[in-house]
Amino acid sequence: MKSDLIQGESSGPKMLPTHVAIIMDGNGRWAKKRLMNRIKGHEQGSTTVRSIVTASREIGIKILTLYAFSTENWARPESEVKALMELLKKFIVAEREELKKNNIRLNIIGQKHRLPPDVRQEIDTTLELTAHNEEMILNLALSYGSREELTRAMQKIAAKIASKDLGPDEITESLISSHLYTSTMPDPDLIIRTSGEYRLSNFLLWQAAYSEIYITDTLWPDFTRDEFIEILKNFQTRERRFGKVSCNTLNGG
Ligand code: FPP
Repeated sequence: MKSDLIQGESSGPKMLPTHVAIIMDGNGRWAKKRLMNRIKGHEQGSTTVRSIVTASREIGIKILTLYAFSTENWARPESEVKALMELLKKFIVAEREELKKNNIRLNIIGQKHRLPPDVRQEIDTTLELTAHNEEMILNLALSYGSREELTRAMQKIAAKIASKDLGPDEITESLISSHLYTSTMPDPDLIIRTSGEYRLSNFLLWQAAYSEIYITDTLWPDFTRDEFIEILKNFQTRERRFGKVSCNTLNGG
């Protein structure tokens, strides 16, 4: 792909992020600005999802996590929840062959069991069809909330302690990570949030410990592949210290 991004396999300095996570925000405001129904904003947001998935695959991002529906989103008006579920189903069905062709594996994090049965069924078909794909993971956060994820992990660990399969001193950071929905993947290197809000909104709270964060004022339906590339370039200028001192300091710089 034509861009001056520096390619690399790991997430060290000047490398591409391995795992990018996006809080896709601003669909409602995009519609409101145009005196349209909020659902129109979500529809346009789906188009952006398509273009950013394609761009990620072409750029060489290995994991793209998209916050598509939070545990809190169930409290939205019934008509909006229904429309979001329909859009999701449409996307999963329409993109199935494209995901397969592009060697992208679908993965879901969140309370899959709370999704409507027809949506679940389409998701399962796509999960199965893409299960052996290796180029990239498209990780959709659906009925996802970090606090729910951590509560669920604590319950599982507590059950193992109660049955004496685990001792309290065996609870380590990696054990907790291994009980999260994201157990098989590295933490996000970069979290992007659109629409200018400065918060994480219950998204990947444990996993975000050392993530770089980028907030853009752009509303999600207006977010483009070009802006995505600019953000990745910005990521490549950042020095990630993970709580340690700068390499420049160690080198006397
Ligand atoms: C936030 O905008 C967005 C959502 C709650 C849903 C995200 C859904 C999509 C991008 C479309 C469907 C998803 C897929 C994967 C096809 P908001 O409604 O909170 O916007 P606002 O803050 O401006 O009101």
